Amino acid sequence: MQKGKFITFEGADGCGKTTQLLLLRDYLINKGYEVVLTREPGAKGLGERIRDILLNYDGEVSDRCESFLFLADRAQNIDTIVIPAIEQGKIVLCDRHTDSTVAYQGYGRGLDVEQINMLNNLATKGLKPDLTLVFDVDVRTSMKRVGTSKDRMESAGMEFFNRVRNGYLELAKLEPERIKVVDATKSIEEVHECVVEIADRL
Ligand code: TYD
Repeated sequence: MQKGKFITFEGADGCGKTTQLLLLRDYLINKGYEVVLTREPGAKGLGERIRDILLNYDGEVSDRCESFLFLADRAQNIDTIVIPAIEQGKIVLCDRHTDSTVAYQGYGRGLDVEQINMLNNLATKGLKPDLTLVFDVDVRTSMKRVGTSKDRMESAGMEFFNRVRNGYLELAKLEPERIKVVDATKSIEEVHECVVEIADRL
């Protein structure tokens, strides 16, 4: 059986990637593909428990501990959801993945990017997405979309999110084949058209 495809959706909070992921799912299902949705952190089961800590724990969380929790969740997602689905020839759409850790914990929190790459590699067993879509939007717009009820990560402030955004843009420059930047300030329909054009090429 032919192997499936692994597509990841990335961008700062409020960029609209989850809406686009669901639209692409519908598009692919209509074309007859089998699609599996997952997310990081917290696809299901144990992952949901880790997600709850990451987004809602209100005591002290060190930057390194935060990184390891995201990585632990990633290992679980890769082992129990992503790899089995790809081996069954399905298309996996994953809401956030390795590039989030580089952008948020690396560029955002200032941890060593080389080390994060190494740890990401351990968590994924070296599996790389076939395609990564980065939904790019200016920080003011994304914060407006997030609104006033913010989780632990979303409360990090404008400067943090500027660094995250720049991190994603740097990553896209480093890996232009895999990572495609989509202008997410456009309407939902226009962004979807753009996503479909890129996905069809894959
Ligand atoms: P989520 O509610 O899934 O945010 P969004 O809807 O914007 O994807 O929360 C995930 C949060 O965790 C988000 O603020 C990004 C952050 N995150 C990291 O900091 N590092 C990571 O490796 C991952 C996967 C997410």
